[in-house]
Amino acid sequence: MSETNRQLLLKTRPRAEVQDSDFELREGPVPSPAEGQVLLRTLYFSFDPTQRGWLNDVPSYLPPVKIGEPMRAGAVAQVIESRHPKFKAGDIVSGTLSWQDYIVTDGGGMTGLNKVPPGIPLTWPLGVLGITGLTAYFGMLELGKPQADEVVVVSGAAGATGSVAGQLAKMRGARVIGTAGGPEKCRWLTEVAGFDEAIDYKNEDTHARLQALCKDRIKLFFDNVGGPILDHCLLNMARFGRIVLCGGISSGYGLDLPPGPKHYMQLVVRSCRMEGFIVLNYMDRFPEAAQALAGWIREGRIKFEEDIQEGLENCPATMRRLFKGQNLGKQLLKVAEPPIAR
Ligand SMILES: NC(=O)c1ccc[n+]([C@@H]2O[C@H](COP(=O)([O-])OP(=O)(O)OC[C@H]3O[C@@H](n4cnc5c(N)ncnc54)[C@H](OP(=O)(O)O)[C@@H]3O)[C@@H](O)[C@H]2O)c1
Repeated sequence: MSETNRQLLLKTRPRAEVQDSDFELREGPVPSPAEGQVLLRTLYFSFDPTQRGWLNDVPSYLPPVKIGEPMRAGAVAQVIESRHPKFKAGDIVSGTLSWQDYIVTDGGGMTGLNKVPPGIPLTWPLGVLGITGLTAYFGMLELGKPQADEVVVVSGAAGATGSVAGQLAKMRGARVIGTAGGPEKCRWLTEVAGFDEAIDYKNEDTHARLQALCKDRIKLFFDNVGGPILDHCLLNMARFGRIVLCGGISSGYGLDLPPGPKHYMQLVVRSCRMEGFIVLNYMDRFPEAAQALAGWIREGRIKFEEDIQEGLENCPATMRRLFKGQNLGKQLLKVAEPPIAR
């Protein structure tokens, strides 16, 4: 194969926001698969706030990306050449891959290499049927367990995880309030995704809006952002309320972390429970959840958006979009036009 393989390798560890200069764009030959391996052409990358955490050289649920390695990322790819019994050329697969055009793999890794079933749009396994949809499913339905008529607040509600989480709570009959940055996202929440109320935390007084909508009545808070929004919700929890701690993107996931929630003693005085989770805890149940989500999408009960950027070289800038709130729904990047002819 005469084409070159472009890779984005981690050059320096960022302290705060990722910079283009933290990565080196290197060109090299396209690798060849050995026995038991496949050669993949990456098509779409998933962008996930947790990737920023993978750049910190600190203990976490996965080892940090090493200096000189291509940046780890969820991706959909096409099998170009297979010397693996499970895959054949032309198969479309998803898995935890990395920022490069071509990859040789034995199909292992965090979530393995999974064939994308026919009829499923290529981007869905990275979003609504992928990690973010599954996180919403398990976080909301298994941990949060929303009940009919309960007040449920979801932060980061117009993002990939929050938008699905809120709609799942609506399906259980809850009254759902979302927080999101900007009028456009808030309109999408109430007019498209069926949230009962949306609070534009960038332009409104979040605490005042929560007091007006649900003072001391939040039974379930599904938190994607932490920071001031977590504090506002802590001050408005109902007695015996639950907080599902999904993420804390307002910290930036860099090395300089802000102080924790000021009002955490409200957990004591209001007898609330706050519980974190990692979606990988539920890996053995991913097929069941993806099937349920696909059914609800087909029935029109779950709406979702995708923001698709283009070009491998734009990966670092696309990662920054998540932390600036520039994405509505799932943040993706297209690296190649599928399907690739051999
Ligand atoms: N526990 C798990 O296993 C698991 C798995 C996947 C994801 N997560 C977490 O779930 C959360 C959402 O992830 P996602 O992939 O679905 O991303 P996303 O919500 O699609 O995108 C991130 C969103 O975060 C919001 N945001 C950024 N900075 C913020 C700030 N300072 N304050 C408030 N909101 C801010 C932005 O929306 P606005 O415009 O509204 O600001 C942005 O669009 C993240 O915290 C992520 O780490 C957890």
